[in-house]
Formats: sequence, structure tokens, C-alpha cells
Amino acid sequence: MNANWPLEPLVKHLTTAGGAMLYNAALARNCQPQWFDPQFWAAQDRLLGTARGRGTAHFVQAGERELVLRHYRRGGLAARVYGDRYRWHGEPRTRPFAEWLLTHRLHRAGLPVPTPIAARYVRDGSAYRGDIITERLHGTVSLTQALREAALPLLTWISIGRCIRRFHDLGVCHADLNAHNVLLGSAAVYLVDFDRCRLRPDGLWRDGNLVRLRRSLEKVTFGLPAERFTEADWHALLDGYQSEPQPGQAP
Ligand SMILES: Nc1ncnc2c1ncn2[C@@H]1O[C@H](COP(=O)(O)OP(=O)(O)O)[C@@H](O)[C@H]1O
Ligand SMILES: [Mg+2]
Repeated sequence: MNANWPLEPLVKHLTTAGGAMLYNAALARNCQPQWFDPQFWAAQDRLLGTARGRGTAHFVQAGERELVLRHYRRGGLAARVYGDRYRWHGEPRTRPFAEWLLTHRLHRAGLPVPTPIAARYVRDGSAYRGDIITERLHGTVSLTQALREAALPLLTWISIGRCIRRFHDLGVCHADLNAHNVLLGSAAVYLVDFDRCRLRPDGLWRDGNLVRLRRSLEKVTFGLPAERFTEADWHALLDGYQSEPQPGQAP
């Protein structure tokens, strides 16, 4: 175990064939490398469905819990050249471990993120492949899916702005803040997908995140009725973002 990685006792680090995995033993005591393989769940008829991101997220039933399995894939041109392989720069810099540990930290800080369960990498020469498992956020739909169905109340836009602000106040720069990575529940707004996200001192990156989300909203509502995303909606989001955070404020 790398000395730079002080882990809590419940976060287990396990060396596996060709790689390693991290998991939260309080939530998944019997976690094994097969868990990262959708076929393992399909063979037991415990595959519940999928969602699309850059790759495919698989929803599975693991006892009482529903989990989300995600294999790391590159986007765009790099996908054709490298597929799902990433250059090895040491364990702490693997996508799955970095995302898992950041998500774990945010979860412990009380931010609305999925509970991280496990992460692993498997080395392949000077490259590696990786996966992450989180707990499924029940009863949520992505902002993209919600807008395909109907316009949202202004209060929801305000809640989205407040939610983003909470992350920004902790210095979380989201590398891909788009409408697919904002999940809406009946009582809360969540952010997912902390791949390549970093904690940063205050700066213009905050506006960069918001601009990226605005572009995404324009893109996903293109061709839908105009009332699905209006200037009033965006201003409500910004109002929520700019409102004074309340101590212990719900997301
Ligand atoms: N914990 C979760 N609970 C419910 N849905 C999730 C969860 N994690 C991911 N998803 C769904 O899967 C999609 C893809 O996952 P994401 O983490 O964004 O990976 P990608 O890097 O492929 O975009 C998300 O847009 C979201 O709809
Ligand atoms: Mg995503």
C-alpha cells in the first residue's frame, strides 16, 4: 500500500490478478473482482438495466442494494485509438481510484453524491483498464431525461443552482458538468461522474462549469418545445447558485 494513501480502516485495498481494488467493507464486505463484470450479474439474473454515459452504466441488484457498474471508456477520437486503455502513471493517478476517493470524500462531507462502493484497475503493460461501482441513487432521473418529458418548475432550477454551489464552495471543479450528470430525485438534486474532477482554489473554473452546463442544456433541449429550457429557467438556476448558502442547507 502506498504511504501517500492513508485510508480509513473500512476502506480496504486488495491486490488482485494484474491490479488492485478498493472497496468500502462496511457496505460491501464480500466485494470481489467479479463484481465489476456485468456478466457475473447477468448470469444470476441480477442485471436490472443500463444507462448511457460515455460508455454504458449497468444497474445490478446486490442483495438489498442496487449498484451501478461503470467501465472507464474514452470519448471521441481517443476511443478509436486507445479504446478503454489509459496510460499508467501510478496507482493514485488511475481514473477509478482517483474518482472513488474523491467521491468518498464528498460523500463523507455530506454532499449529494452516490455512495462509492468499489473501484479497480487491471494493468496491461504501460496501460491499465478500470471500473468503478457506486450505489444507485433510487428514484432519480437525469436532468436530460426529465427535460425530454416536461418543463421543470422554477424551484427545481433553483435547487440545481444551489446544489452546484455547494460543490463549488468546497472547491470541486467538475470536469464534465452536463445535463446527464445532474440527477433529480423527489427531494434532492445530485451530481454524478467525478472522473477527472479536482479540488481547486477559487477561480474562473466556476464560471467554466456553469458555461459547460448551459451549453449542454441547449444541446439536449434542441428540437424540443421551447418551454423546456428558457432564459427564466437559467436565471432561476443562477439565482439558486448565487443565493447565500444556509448552514446545513438541504441540497
Ligand atoms: N449512482 C447512480 N445512480 C443512478 N444513476 C447513475 C448513477 N451513476 C451513474 N448513473 C447514470 O449513468 C449515467 C452514466 O454514468 P456516469 O457516471 O455519468 O459515467 P460516464 O463517464 O459514462 O458519463 C449517468 O448519466 C446517470 O444517468
Ligand atoms: Mg457522465
